[in-house]
Amino acid sequence: MIILDKNESTLEELKHRILGFRKEDSPLILRKACDENFTEKSWFDYLEKECSLTPDMRHISFEGELTQKKWWEISNQIDKSSAYAHSTTAQPFHSDNAWFARGPEVNFFIMKKQAVSGGENLFYPINRLLNDLEKEDEGLLQDLLHTEVTISKGNENVSHRTPIIVTEGTGKIFWNYYRTDKSEKFVKDMCDRFFSYLSNKEESSSVMEFRCESDDAFLFNDQKILHARKSFNAFKERDRVLLQSMWYLP
Ligand SMILES: [Fe+2]
Repeated sequence: MIILDKNESTLEELKHRILGFRKEDSPLILRKACDENFTEKSWFDYLEKECSLTPDMRHISFEGELTQKKWWEISNQIDKSSAYAHSTTAQPFHSDNAWFARGPEVNFFIMKKQAVSGGENLFYPINRLLNDLEKEDEGLLQDLLHTEVTISKGNENVSHRTPIIVTEGTGKIFWNYYRTDKSEKFVKDMCDRFFSYLSNKEESSSVMEFRCESDDAFLFNDQKILHARKSFNAFKERDRVLLQSMWYLP
């Protein structure tokens, strides 16, 4: 995990780190990324114009509609709390863009407001996961590599058919337990095995944990890192507000 303070780093250094994400499978944390002079709009312009990333503004809303947004909000909201994006509960390991065939690589987040306690992010890079599976459950690894699944979301059925782990190049992972079609028994069993494997790894040394403060940002290659969230305490709606955007590498 790379942790930089934005005020002590040059934008050129940041750009170098971000463009390394094609191979890099470590998350990048940016302390004090936002202030009144450098807002989420500044970050959007910087990523697009200085880093030459291309935004993917597709967002599937809580209602399942495919919309276009520069940023979308992940925040605790009682009437939408059936979705992890709007609950205060722990969220298991997943990829964000798994249902997009040829989806964007980079996810960029701004922690507008962190909860008073909890809400830590967990990161599990694919290289560590592959090492762990090779040692601990080779059978599960082979099933994840060789079984095609369909991952989909939304009323317009945005959909991606792929093995969950693809090892071509430096490896990719596409994982969302809840959005994977588990109507075939073998797929259901495999997904259940992987879900419980990942749950058991949450407290292991393979997993990195980090708690952002308000105005920090973080980014990672969504195809190379699984992420999860610990539960958090909230007293009222939007006590924790995280903004998300997603981007294609040049
Ligand atoms: Fe996520």
